[in-house]
Amino acid sequence: MANVGVVGVQWGDEGKGKIIDYLSGFADIIVRFQGGANAGHTIVIGDKKVILHLIPSGILREKTYCIIGNGVVMDPEVLEKEIEELKGLGYLQDDRRLMISGYTHVIMPYHKKLDALKESRSAKKIGTTGRGIGPAYEDRVSRMGIRVVDLIDRKVFREKLKANLEIKNFLIRRYYKDEPLMIRDILKKFEPYRKMLKRHVTDSTSFLHKAMAKKKKILFEGAQGTFLDIDHGTYPYVTSSNTIAGNISAGAGVPPSAVDYILGICKTYTTRVGEGPFPTELPGPEGELMRKIGDEYGATTGRPRRCGWFDAVLVRRAVKLSGINGLSLMKLDVLDSFDTIKICTHYKIGKRLYEEPPMALQDFYRCEPQYEEMPGWKTSIKDARRLEDLPEQTLRYIRRIEELVGVPAAIVSTGPDRESTIILTNPFA
Ligand code: IMP
Repeated sequence: MANVGVVGVQWGDEGKGKIIDYLSGFADIIVRFQGGANAGHTIVIGDKKVILHLIPSGILREKTYCIIGNGVVMDPEVLEKEIEELKGLGYLQDDRRLMISGYTHVIMPYHKKLDALKESRSAKKIGTTGRGIGPAYEDRVSRMGIRVVDLIDRKVFREKLKANLEIKNFLIRRYYKDEPLMIRDILKKFEPYRKMLKRHVTDSTSFLHKAMAKKKKILFEGAQGTFLDIDHGTYPYVTSSNTIAGNISAGAGVPPSAVDYILGICKTYTTRVGEGPFPTELPGPEGELMRKIGDEYGATTGRPRRCGWFDAVLVRRAVKLSGINGLSLMKLDVLDSFDTIKICTHYKIGKRLYEEPPMALQDFYRCEPQYEEMPGWKTSIKDARRLEDLPEQTLRYIRRIEELVGVPAAIVSTGPDRESTIILTNPFA
């Protein structure tokens, strides 16, 4: 396959980082197409740990080009830090390998401030990452946003910033009764960003189309997960972008036909950070055990993730929404010590059974998950390298997931290391 899209099929944190690292070895170009610094991926280089929020981890490969696409909302403060860290470790010596679309919207200090104020003052918190994502996408839609191409032009930037600050400061001062932001402070802070961005700004649409004409291999890297999608997720407990594969086209500037294979990244249980419904959540000791074994703490905010059983109702919907061709089943080893393992096959609301998630949020909260229970395997599977190395019960669990969601497993991950990965289908092959 020439081009592969990778998306999360649950509430994010499915382990996309590990699989993207693997797949980036086969790709010439990696493109982020939505989200921003709300995503996070920890990379260990020798004794150093780097958390990348914006730059695709493929930047660590020698020849891969990485693109921050137009669908991303980009925080220059985060980007500068990541670039410096990478350069300090000897990576990214060639600026041309990191490209940012001129159309990418910039996260401004007032976006982060408004995100924090809204969360701290509102009775119904979303539990955002506080990275200014929602307010930045709001401005994009209301046509007030500042794009990279605007920021690098000093005059345009000043004009747009002035117009924005008038409104934002009115809101900050009058509604939130907080300190306004000063234009001169922002202009000063952003001067080095302007210079940095000039080195990376590219017509990435044109670059990608030329690359496709030359049959280069492209990996489209999704962030978050299907049920955080602004349209198809558990609204309003969602992020502010479309996270499903359909957004690859709009967020990267390629036609839908450019993507040949969609890989869905799927934990073999379920986790969620932030507020919102979670039918299969285990608030008791079983959930705590999953959190402990699976090290379920957010890479961006460090918050503990809520944990629960595998929810086939959600993943079935995600498979349809993104046209998933194969699943990468993640963190299967986290279930090693459970006596029995449950899979939610349906929801019950009142007396009725449902195969699909409900539309109304209040119904989501009323869902009673209907479980099938399977025997656990009670042994470590981290050394399995082929499907045949897995215990019979593990295989049965995998087969049942495949049956319930209607798509085959392409990859099975049995541990955090690169070696603990069983490749059944390489999407790039
Ligand atoms: P925002 O994207 O910061 O506005 O947060 C909105 C919701 O999406 C919150 O529930 C966050 O916890 C969740 N969220 C955002 N990014 C991620 C992610 O990368 N992984 C998991 N959850 C996320």
